[in-house]
Amino acid sequence: MANSKNIPTVEIGVRAFVFGGSCSNLQATEAVLNRATDLGFTANEIIFTGDMIAYCGQPAETAHLIRQAGVHAIMGNCEESIAFELDDCGCGFADGSACDALSQQWFNHCLNVIDADTRLWMQQLPRFLDIELGDFTLRCIHGTPEAINEFIFPSDIAAGRYTPRNEDGIDGYICGHSGIPFAAEVSNKVWINSGSAGMPANDGTSRVWYALFESAQIKLKVSIESLDYDHEVAASIMRKRGLDNGYADCLSSGIWPSHDVLPAEERQITGIPILPSTFTFKKKIATVQDPQLA
Ligand SMILES: [Fe+2]
Repeated sequence: MANSKNIPTVEIGVRAFVFGGSCSNLQATEAVLNRATDLGFTANEIIFTGDMIAYCGQPAETAHLIRQAGVHAIMGNCEESIAFELDDCGCGFADGSACDALSQQWFNHCLNVIDADTRLWMQQLPRFLDIELGDFTLRCIHGTPEAINEFIFPSDIAAGRYTPRNEDGIDGYICGHSGIPFAAEVSNKVWINSGSAGMPANDGTSRVWYALFESAQIKLKVSIESLDYDHEVAASIMRKRGLDNGYADCLSSGIWPSHDVLPAEERQITGIPILPSTFTFKKKIATVQDPQLA
């Protein structure tokens, strides 16, 4: 099924498990998918928001795992770049920047190990996906509706530097790409980023992130959750495969090796652990944050 904009639409039911940014981290991806299974989610209730491949050591294995899981997956800029054999990861990093140098390393690694069949599958992933979750319709995107590689951080929404497009027929957006989990409401639209399931959130912990969605009539409950996994194995595999760089260290330290893309507000809270939190949104009504869990 597709809507008037030819965006595919799927009926999820009343709850969903959302993750993204697996970043070639097989151990973390396995842990997150196991968590979804333990919580009783079926493949039709699981959403992946892109960037299954990136910094870590097992891109082919991670892509295979997500493909075999049969979850609803959309294209991230990393899939786009590898699938279409573009010049770089597509994040738009400045030439010569730390991010540019670090991304080139994993990008070349992915080019060598992702096979033609996987690239073809990645080419066919939708860039947008609408999910019907009870009374809510949420549009899954990677960066923003405007650009697959646009970074939106919590402070961008809070400070009004970015306002989501006020599109008709949807209650908000589920996005990925930026790697920091958060939920917000602006202009009567929800904006939810489940964080990265394969890379820490620059908060000084090795945890990775996912989100649980549950709708009940006019209410949508979103829980941003974290997970511990065997990050030492993931880092060891990176080093064995020639990716002995700051991202291998980051898997344990929880601190990103480059803060080039971060706004000042997020740079200032580097190393401060992010707490899991639960938000309740009312359909086109103001957001209420649960004070006990925030
Ligand atoms: Fe991305």
